Amino acid sequence: MTRLNRLLPLSLAALVLAAAPATARTTKPAAAASTTSLHAMVAAANPMAVDAGLKVLKAGGSAVDAAVAVQAVLGLVEPQSSGLGGGAFMTYYDARTRKVTAYNGRETAPAGATPDMFLGSNGKPLPRPVAMTSGRSAGVPGAIAMLYLAQGQHGKLKWADLFGDAERLADQGFPAPGRMAAAASSNAAQAGTPDAVAYFTRPDGAKVQAGDLWKNPAYAVSIRKVAAEGPKAILEGPIAEQIVAKLSQGPIPGTMTLKDLASYKPKATPAVCRPYRIYVVCTPPAPSGGPAVLEGLGILERTDIDKHPNDAQGWYLFSQASRLTYADRDRYYGDPDFVDVPMEGLLAKDYLDARAKLIDPTTAGPPPKPGVPKGAAVRGADQTREPGGTTHFVIVDKDGNAVSMTTTVESIFGDGRMVGGFFLNNQLTDFSFEPKDYEGVPAANAVAAGKRPRSSMAPAIVLDRQGRLVAAVGSPGGPSIIAFVLKGLVGVLDWKLPMQETLALPNLIGIGNIYASEPARYPPGVVEQLAAKGVKLQGGPFGEGSGLHGVEVTPGGLRGGADPRREGVAKGY
Ligand code: DON
Repeated sequence: MTRLNRLLPLSLAALVLAAAPATARTTKPAAAASTTSLHAMVAAANPMAVDAGLKVLKAGGSAVDAAVAVQAVLGLVEPQSSGLGGGAFMTYYDARTRKVTAYNGRETAPAGATPDMFLGSNGKPLPRPVAMTSGRSAGVPGAIAMLYLAQGQHGKLKWADLFGDAERLADQGFPAPGRMAAAASSNAAQAGTPDAVAYFTRPDGAKVQAGDLWKNPAYAVSIRKVAAEGPKAILEGPIAEQIVAKLSQGPIPGTMTLKDLASYKPKATPAVCRPYRIYVVCTPPAPSGGPAVLEGLGILERTDIDKHPNDAQGWYLFSQASRLTYADRDRYYGDPDFVDVPMEGLLAKDYLDARAKLIDPTTAGPPPKPGVPKGAAVRGADQTREPGGTTHFVIVDKDGNAVSMTTTVESIFGDGRMVGGFFLNNQLTDFSFEPKDYEGVPAANAVAAGKRPRSSMAPAIVLDRQGRLVAAVGSPGGPSIIAFVLKGLVGVLDWKLPMQETLALPNLIGIGNIYASEPARYPPGVVEQLAAKGVKLQGGPFGEGSGLHGVEVTPGGLRGGADPRREGVAKGY
């Protein structure tokens, strides 16, 4: 408590504590209260993973130590979303140095990948389910290698000691979560692969049901190997050989080799941080979606959205900033090791001024075009499509260090191919299937050997201007992630809502002329007022749902939230 008080300057403490304006209080969404804890907290999409992380924290482990335990359990109990066969981005705050580091565990394309590998023999893009379950869709998995790098730098416990819960649950069984069971019985192509059917079918021939005691002995073996050897357990030796063999199988075999696997290198770089009002918001650089969230904030900072908590004008401004942001991000983002991403130009003051001026009092006519920021190359119109499976978690340890990590196998159960009790990713379908647009202009996100596909994942960390932790938030959701995270930040930083209420706010993705949303979640009258301003909300399923998880620092302690649309929880001690 004293420590947390010290973390916040008085003025900011007052702001965070301040009751939101009356409008927000009368229109706040129905939501469970945020969880508050004094020392440390984990917010993640599954309670078994949260408990594993808390156990590590209570044993004196750091936020990164706990992240390893959380990932190890999520790979078992939420295999539709992340695991040993996937990739991740992690934003890490070091309370002692007040530095924010971006860890990049994004999958890389094998040396044999080519720009046209997702085109069929007719020259047209392969149907997505075909591409996703093909041997070509998997990139070299980077999540474990990334965690190993981060844990070597910021861990306090031994790597080998972080896998106890995952191993026990895999060996002795765990109650099958409802979301896992529903995904296994869904009509997604990956749920129908021979590996998925074999794993998810009970001895009586029925598919796994929520609450069944589920075991995964192969996963226990893999986890023991990872505990003993680190990422080499997957990227070299027998498991690597099985990965290569699995991806060389039809339909449409891929080109992954042992050399591709053994050469994988995660990266650690300074995070991209930009001021937002009295705060500083940090995310990983491209190819993550982080800088796009920063562009959205940059546009909103030039509006008075902070005076419009959860009202029609607030959501109107949000919807327009979202459209402007997606237009740029879809045009310009790719792997900066391969293409110039004009990030400085997109986040430059004069560029953001000009972008924000494009917001009219009401909207009609064609959607906004991408702008031309300084340093921009000519880029083809984007044709990337990203449905999927992904998860986000946030951890704050007792020293105030924080992890904000989005981790993914891309689509539900990745490519549906299993090795060692885990699914391989289909992350390479995050590349543009078409290497060029219809005018023949190269896409920033075209496939290339060794390249990392563009991502929407945007694990965010918020500091005050003195570099002290204010909040951490992130979400899965394919392309919608950028709007989901933007909402998470606006709710907490501008509308001063507690984390849990923020995460329960309606999701709204403005992209082109589409406004995908959840009309039933708005306060009365807002949907109609938005329609009168030209923003006609579309309900129904839009891409992948959110799975926002976050923690904020308040003078009363750490305050966490878990997206009510998933089955997660925020817990601390
Ligand atoms: O990296 C990306 O942007 C996608 N592979 C994320 C997919 C995703 O979030 C699916 N959601 N649940």
